[in-house]
Amino acid sequence: MADSDMAWARLDPTYVPPEIDTSVPSVARVYDAILGGKDNFAVDRAVADAAIAAMGDGGNGARLNRAALGRAVRYMADRGVTQFLDLGSGLPTAQNTHQIAQAINPAARVVYVDNDPSVSVHGQALLTGDDSTVVVLDDVRSPDALLARPEVAGFLDFGQPIGLILNAVIHHLLDEEDPRAIVARYRDALAPGSYLQLTHFCDESAEARANSEVLTRSLGRGQVRSRAEIETFFDGFDLVAPGLVFLPYWRPDVPVEDPPPAGSMLMLVGVAKKA
Ligand SMILES: C[S@@+](CC[C@H](N)C(=O)[O-])C[C@H]1O[C@@H](n2cnc3c(N)ncnc32)[C@H](O)[C@@H]1O
Repeated sequence: MADSDMAWARLDPTYVPPEIDTSVPSVARVYDAILGGKDNFAVDRAVADAAIAAMGDGGNGARLNRAALGRAVRYMADRGVTQFLDLGSGLPTAQNTHQIAQAINPAARVVYVDNDPSVSVHGQALLTGDDSTVVVLDDVRSPDALLARPEVAGFLDFGQPIGLILNAVIHHLLDEEDPRAIVARYRDALAPGSYLQLTHFCDESAEARANSEVLTRSLGRGQVRSRAEIETFFDGFDLVAPGLVFLPYWRPDVPVEDPPPAGSMLMLVGVAKKA
């Protein structure tokens, strides 16, 4: 946000910067609405309400996705990872990557990237005065340009391990955009000892198959993929235990209920290490 926009936002909380289009829903803001956030507009809430009604999970899938991200960031930070590149990071909500990582290591550096201007506007406001975290407006589908940006290449040390986070973003990329090659390009830029964390809508469960049209239509462009397809995003990495599993089953903090709550079987999550 420009300084003048920041000043206006302080004077008038209803002020909307010109780069934010409130007439069409955005994936980031719909997801924020599903999570119960406040950085969304009527057009986003309408889609969020329709998605929650159709999925019948009360938004639980989105909350489980955030929780899986949190456990994975803790896992990586506990193993000495001090730098994170969070692509398709979404709007700031409770327990963001930098807060989790910096609670373990205050010196941890985090770069957030999202192609939705709402994210950079809110992110920059949240991060005022934080020198260890930056938010960048860019597109995951252009890895070379993104990796060359000074806020990325000049802020993270690619000679040292990095935690690459692709939480619920690759399913917004279409097959014709070759998401596998895009993820491989990021992998090739990482030093040995780096990690990839990824969550992705999977067609494996009856719950996910029933909801696949709703998921892709309501949350914007995207594709629900098979386990085998999702596994290929981890090529060149070694999945850590327990492997590629539905969200609640990745290193849960408390035992998972049996049967698991609605929304549990929508996305697979994996964390993998680059040898
Ligand atoms: C479902 S949200 C997930 C947010 C966050 N990663 C999480 O899991 O809580 C997907 C995010 O990916 C972003 N996104 C979608 N396509 C993108 C692209 N091509 N480049 C960058 N960000 C993208 C959206 O704007 C949105 O913020």
